[in-house]
Amino acid sequence: MEELLKSLEEKIVNVTNINELNELKAEYLGKKGSISALSSKMGELSIEEKKTYGMKLNEIRTKAESLIEEKRKAMEKAILDEKLAKESIDISLPATKVTAGSPNILEKVIEEVEELFMSMGYDVVDGPEVEEDRYNFELLNIPKGHAARDAQDTFYLKDDEILLRSQTSGVQARVMLAHEGKEPIRMICPGKTYRRDDDDATHSHQFMQIEGLLVDTEDISLCDLKGTFETAAKKLFGNDTTTRFRPSYYQFTEPSVEMDISCFNCKGKGCNICKQTGWITVGGAGMVHPNVLNMCGYDANKWHGFAFGFGAERLAMLKYGVNDLRAFYNVDLREVKNFDRREEN
Ligand code: DAH
Repeated sequence: MEELLKSLEEKIVNVTNINELNELKAEYLGKKGSISALSSKMGELSIEEKKTYGMKLNEIRTKAESLIEEKRKAMEKAILDEKLAKESIDISLPATKVTAGSPNILEKVIEEVEELFMSMGYDVVDGPEVEEDRYNFELLNIPKGHAARDAQDTFYLKDDEILLRSQTSGVQARVMLAHEGKEPIRMICPGKTYRRDDDDATHSHQFMQIEGLLVDTEDISLCDLKGTFETAAKKLFGNDTTTRFRPSYYQFTEPSVEMDISCFNCKGKGCNICKQTGWITVGGAGMVHPNVLNMCGYDANKWHGFAFGFGAERLAMLKYGVNDLRAFYNVDLREVKNFDRREEN
């Protein structure tokens, strides 16, 4: 037995990795190992001999086990020490710079508009991008076959009934129907819209609109719309901004207007941003058409309202001096970084 232990002691010195150690453990202590083999001899011994033999055998086994465990610990420590030495961090080296992201400016403009209108008691609502013809056109006073549909040619998903909405105005109808002609409404709805357009610097097959609707039994007039627009324009483009309405035509408002702001760049003198006119158009608006009110469950004899729609990219382009709408939808960081700068002339 002592010899066996000695041979183990000699062999263990040459072990260089855990695998070898495991093999050695099996050789001595495994079921068929040499120390285990010694215990089979017990059967041949007398009771007295068994006692001393058994005690000795246990002692040898314990010694062998601790030899192997000590070796294992020593090897694991060596591995860890080596790893620690290799992976040590030099804290005097300069840190890697982490570039911070910033919110998409389109989102920033939309949030600014949302906050402003919420402060005036408006709700921010959502509408579906996959819309029914009924909401996108019919309830907005644009029946099937109406010429106005041509200007909003869009993507139809199922026959001519289900489509990608060409405007957020359909949400007006949805909200009015949901309130069942009973309650006053103040809502804005930002969202994606789609049109079959060629993509260029100012057009995209997909763009964002911010819709607004106010309905009440009070005497709501174009003056209220003007005041609301003026407040929004000053908030977005600065206190020295003035506004004007130009007559226009939309099927779901009567009268209808184009909403212009004074050019923030030249202050109305004329420059290349406002195409020398001193004014920039930012959206359409008007008094909600009685047909629309009636179709959507609001008695037009009692209720009145105004509606408006801004092009969100247009607002962001003007505010941040972006001259190509496509810049919002590509991922070129060099372009994105320029967004924080206003164009000088
Ligand atoms: N939906 C119109 C468009 O896409 C914009 C618009 C005009 C919205 C007048 C309105 C409105 O709510 O009253 O061209």
